[in-house]
Amino acid sequence: MTQKTTQLENLKKEALKCQNCELYKTKNKTVFSDGCENAPIMFIGEAPGQNEDETGIPFIGRAGQLLRKFLFEVDIKQDDIYIANTIKCRPPKNRKPTQVEKNACKHFLDKQIELVNPKIIVLVGSTALESFISDKKLTITKARGKIFEIEGRKFIPIFHPSYLLRYHSTEENSPRDLFKKDLLTIKNLIKN
Ligand code: URA
Repeated sequence: MTQKTTQLENLKKEALKCQNCELYKTKNKTVFSDGCENAPIMFIGEAPGQNEDETGIPFIGRAGQLLRKFLFEVDIKQDDIYIANTIKCRPPKNRKPTQVEKNACKHFLDKQIELVNPKIIVLVGSTALESFISDKKLTITKARGKIFEIEGRKFIPIFHPSYLLRYHSTEENSPRDLFKKDLLTIKNLIKN
């Protein structure tokens, strides 16, 4: 076992017993990560939903399945991705995580980023975007597809797949079309 594997496992163990915010009282499973610890691409979503809470796996419900379908379509491989969320425990009724909850959980995410050390971090939706880029005027619509360099790391925001569930069109510049284009940009970034 590599040192990285051990460190990530220890971090996960710590997250499983975390009581830094109130969500441990209502959650079922802690949703730590999915994917490959040596992946060049790290996806960061908002928070676990019901399916994630039941299985302990991020992006496994409807939105997650759509994300995974698009990844398959653009040929981004399983080994190329590591997936986490801004918080590890499901907020009741899938409400957005509060700032207190995000702050309480941030050290886990920061350590995951440090250990996985991906080439590019994909901020999936507005909650993830706001957690890393504090510009109130920067909406996900404006930010998506652009590359942001922060403290030596590359970030690229994309739409949240749950938004795509509401728009089925794949015509030029539709949300699904833009989403696919952004995934292709990401795929090209890891080639270099
Ligand atoms: N939405 C997210 O942002 N993350 C998940 O893990 C599932 C749905």
